[in-house]
Amino acid sequence: MMTPEIRFKTITSLQDVVPHASLAPRVVPRRVLMCPPTYFEVKDANNAFMADNIGGVDWDKAQQQWSKLKETIENCGFPVEIIEPIAGFEDMVFTANQVLPFAKFGGEPSVIVGQMAFPTRQREVPFFEKWFQAHGYNLLSIPADCERFEGGGDGIWHADLGLLWVGVGQRTSEKSCDELARILEVPVVKLKLVSPKFYHLDTAFAVLDSQSVLVYPGAFDRTGLELIRFYFKNVVEISESDANNFAGNAFALDRNVILQRGSISTCEELGRLQFVPHEVDTSEFMKSGGSVYCMTQMVY
Ligand code: ARG
Repeated sequence: MMTPEIRFKTITSLQDVVPHASLAPRVVPRRVLMCPPTYFEVKDANNAFMADNIGGVDWDKAQQQWSKLKETIENCGFPVEIIEPIAGFEDMVFTANQVLPFAKFGGEPSVIVGQMAFPTRQREVPFFEKWFQAHGYNLLSIPADCERFEGGGDGIWHADLGLLWVGVGQRTSEKSCDELARILEVPVVKLKLVSPKFYHLDTAFAVLDSQSVLVYPGAFDRTGLELIRFYFKNVVEISESDANNFAGNAFALDRNVILQRGSISTCEELGRLQFVPHEVDTSEFMKSGGSVYCMTQMVY
């Protein structure tokens, strides 16, 4: 049993790591929440990818790409739940961001409600609160003065272990880490995101299983990379070109890994570790700075 000091802790360097043996097991969800891209478009420039693509989405292509992604997830054995899209909410398709689901052993499923950086995305959150409430989840929040937390885009679970990786410095604030650790009762590893292009943790960090992770090193500082190498036995470093092709936004479902097509060396590395890569095309969503993982959320 972990002591409260360990459970509630934010890990910032190798000096304060919590050993693997002290991490609790975690209930892993086996369904995926998605939102059809009915109203998806690029309207403003909330990240480095959007500026050149305002008004540039091919709507028909986006619908086809999303349906193909949904089918690929279902074929991997994971049922897809749908949240209804709302007219005028162009980024709702990115269901990774609005909340962070979790469940304690013996406890009901809960979500930590996100505090989004941009007003255009803040207004999505109440619709997700409603969905999760209707599906039996407790809603919890970090205090308003922690300012920012972009849900599963910046908070990524260490597979089936009770350890949360949090990317800070672009969208999510450093201040949120201690609060997340307190609410979740798990250690939280703070990773500073140092490149504006990799503005969510899930753009450069994909947990494959409790031993393996895909990482783009250019998105992190030295301390962050040390922490990643401490906790994962297999650290697959992706190249800059694969990172720019959103390989770091891969989505692992058991031994299957779904990712944007065209990242040849990342696919080879996945194969070497006995994962099966499934390449899909998310080109229309990349115009908005998102790919596979951004369009999903694991739910109970
Ligand atoms: N246009 C969206 C934004 O800037 C893209 C979100 C991508 N989501 C993600 N989990 N990385 O907020």
